[in-house]
Amino acid sequence: MADGAFGLSRELAEETAPVWDKVKDFVTPLEWPQQARLISEINRLKRERDAVILAHNYMTPEIFHGVGDYVGDSLGLAKEAARSDAKVIVQAGVHFMAETSKILSPDKTVLIPDLRAGCSLASSITGADVRLIKERHPGLPVVTYVNTTADVKAETDICCTSANAVQVVEWAAKEWGVDKVILIPDEYLARNVAAQTTVGIIAWAGRCEVHERFTADDIKEMRAAYPGAEILAHPECPEEVLAASDFAGSTAAMIDYVAARKPKQVVMITECSMASNVKGDVPGVDFIGPCNLCPHMKRITLENIRDCLRDMKFEVTVAPEMAERAALAVQRMIDLPPPSKPARYDLVKARHHVDVELI
Ligand code: 13P
Ligand code: SF4
Repeated sequence: MADGAFGLSRELAEETAPVWDKVKDFVTPLEWPQQARLISEINRLKRERDAVILAHNYMTPEIFHGVGDYVGDSLGLAKEAARSDAKVIVQAGVHFMAETSKILSPDKTVLIPDLRAGCSLASSITGADVRLIKERHPGLPVVTYVNTTADVKAETDICCTSANAVQVVEWAAKEWGVDKVILIPDEYLARNVAAQTTVGIIAWAGRCEVHERFTADDIKEMRAAYPGAEILAHPECPEEVLAASDFAGSTAAMIDYVAARKPKQVVMITECSMASNVKGDVPGVDFIGPCNLCPHMKRITLENIRDCLRDMKFEVTVAPEMAERAALAVQRMIDLPPPSKPARYDLVKARHHVDVELI
């Protein structure tokens, strides 16, 4: 019976009211009844299937606030996949994240709502490429960004994310007793890490199609238009963008920064759902969004999450021998002492250009 808000039943309106509170700036009252029904259906299906939903910070707000059991950056999601007791993991994110979950939880069923949710970084390199790189640079450790396929991880010594890349690079150089490491496949992350450390970096020319589009001129224009705003950039952006910003860090580090400092105005130089999601949790901060969408992340919707749980599709599998080798690299990263907070990039260092060797 439609005796609650938005023409919903009173029960459903009450159940979904806390979510509406967080998404009301981004979802219209016209869309909400359908979304509220889907959120309720998904949460019921999760209980029936003994499933959890791991939702990346780039999911749309109704997914992030409505159905995500764990929300976070790539590092946080990888750790949660390893910790979870649920039988089923639904990855509300892209394919490499689902593979990482499967690698860490081989006995669980890992599902992704749309198999086409890829990543320009993950598709920039193959396991065969990594084998050739190792032949060219024998004896150097291979540090690989988690934004890669399982066959690339299987050729890797240790994985990293943008939240711990500097820590991992320095750990690998020390463990191997070398002054240079291979850090692949994101060229910009590699350049930004190189500016933070004395360890030499050999890089690959992979790019994130969302972050590579930002330029230093964009930052200049933002500053001119919003003189008081604090500008936060993701380390997958070009070096000049970081050098011109006020803060740089992983998606989780950006959230920490905004939650702790509550600046009046913030510009988030990253995928545009981030600003919407943080806004839901930090009211009172004015977010200005230069909006770059990740087309892969945006393939995930409430509808296909519901279908995924209802029909138990699409299952993500990794060949056991490959998964075992890849797991060593991911687990090595997880086993490193956790930083008290996701690492931030020192912008004084970021303003000094340090070259990398591009393969
Ligand atoms: P983090 O969440 O690790 O910052 O990564 C950003 C990203 O582009 C993931 O696809
Ligand atoms: Fe890949 Fe960039 Fe999309 Fe992240 S935002 S999934 S790195 S293309």
